[in-house]
Amino acid sequence: MNVGCVKEIKKLEGRVGLIPSAVKEYVNAGHRVLIETNAGVMSGFPDADYVKAGAVICENAEQVWKQANMIVKVKEPLAPEYKFFRNDLILYTYLHLAADEEQTKALLASGIKGVAYETIVTEDGTLPCLKPMSEVAGRLAIIEGAKRLEKPFGGSGVLLSGVPGVERGNVVILGAGVVGENALKIAVGLEANVTILDINLKRLDDLDKLYGNRITTLYSNADNIEKSLEKADLVVSGVLLPGAKAPKLIKRAYYKNMKPGSVIVDVAIDQGGSTEVSHATYHDDPVFVVDGINHYCVANMPGAVARTSAIALNNATLKYGLLIANNGLEKAIQISKPVKAGVNTYLGKCTCKGVAEAFNLPLAEL
Ligand SMILES: NC(=O)c1ccc[n+]([C@@H]2O[C@H](COP(=O)([O-])OP(=O)(O)OC[C@H]3O[C@@H](n4cnc5c(N)ncnc54)[C@H](O)[C@@H]3O)[C@@H](O)[C@H]2O)c1
Repeated sequence: MNVGCVKEIKKLEGRVGLIPSAVKEYVNAGHRVLIETNAGVMSGFPDADYVKAGAVICENAEQVWKQANMIVKVKEPLAPEYKFFRNDLILYTYLHLAADEEQTKALLASGIKGVAYETIVTEDGTLPCLKPMSEVAGRLAIIEGAKRLEKPFGGSGVLLSGVPGVERGNVVILGAGVVGENALKIAVGLEANVTILDINLKRLDDLDKLYGNRITTLYSNADNIEKSLEKADLVVSGVLLPGAKAPKLIKRAYYKNMKPGSVIVDVAIDQGGSTEVSHATYHDDPVFVVDGINHYCVANMPGAVARTSAIALNNATLKYGLLIANNGLEKAIQISKPVKAGVNTYLGKCTCKGVAEAFNLPLAEL
């Protein structure tokens, strides 16, 4: 196959769909890999690294889209990229279609075969291509939040670790999934006081066994959330109801009893966010203030640490990408249930239940 990778055009997105080591794997498997010039620069991979790995460098995105049988990306295509869609092309990337009717229509109208990272599900129900980005976002949430607590950034001036003789900062984490667990790991590492809430008692049980009295686990209900927030310096939300909008667990009414200058990092913003005032922000202006509380609501947090994120993403996507390239999509669907679950659009038909339901489209069985 001709496997292509273009430079991401979303604002301040630094990740790249194929890193040089992944290119090498495709080349070793007999494929021809086309890379748009400078596609990997923001992730720290110059063109020379791709040439060394065996890729052909193309001068612009059009050359890649036109020659490729399969495009490997990171973010969903944006409107200027729709014109490159065609029915003999495989698109392998995050699509997030249930929140994007315009893109869904463009994919269906073109007949392109759209395989979405976020709907690839393994037999045990995990989402292997979503997990690494949640790991990054959870860890980064504490680092970003700690920074925003500093006075020059409009924070309350609390150092999460405290110092001998001064109390530690309080971190409250809503949701003990992948984001929550990774935020917890970093917050504990910083020696903050950490409280984590979830409705899944098994998750809380696991974390209690792992961390013992270094953390507090609480069942997530309105009372526990409100009381925890009153003491919080930094709040991280990684709550998810699969396939639905994030529940607005953090009410604006709670703000009057929260500490001025405290910080909420709303990682769940890509599903609408966990506060009543959340709206998506970008890396160049990530925080807004409501009632004295700082809200960090960047919807593509991993893009800020593009190198780590691009490598982590490639580690997860390579396996399924190679399977598709080596076998063709049709055979790959037959031999791999996760790949089958990843297909959202196929020759003009919607093949993903969640997307079909979101836009009232007929659901086609692959
Ligand atoms: N902003 C970003 O850049 C970014 C990056 C990665 C992931 N995310 C988002 O972060 C969110 C979390 O992702 P994840 O991989 O950790 O999901 P996950 O499924 O691993 O974890 C979600 C957790 O939320 C818990 N939960 C559900 N309802 C709850 C409630 N009422 N109170 C407390 N907990 C509740 C679930 O039990 C689960 O443990 C998702 O929306 C994901 O898309 C955002």
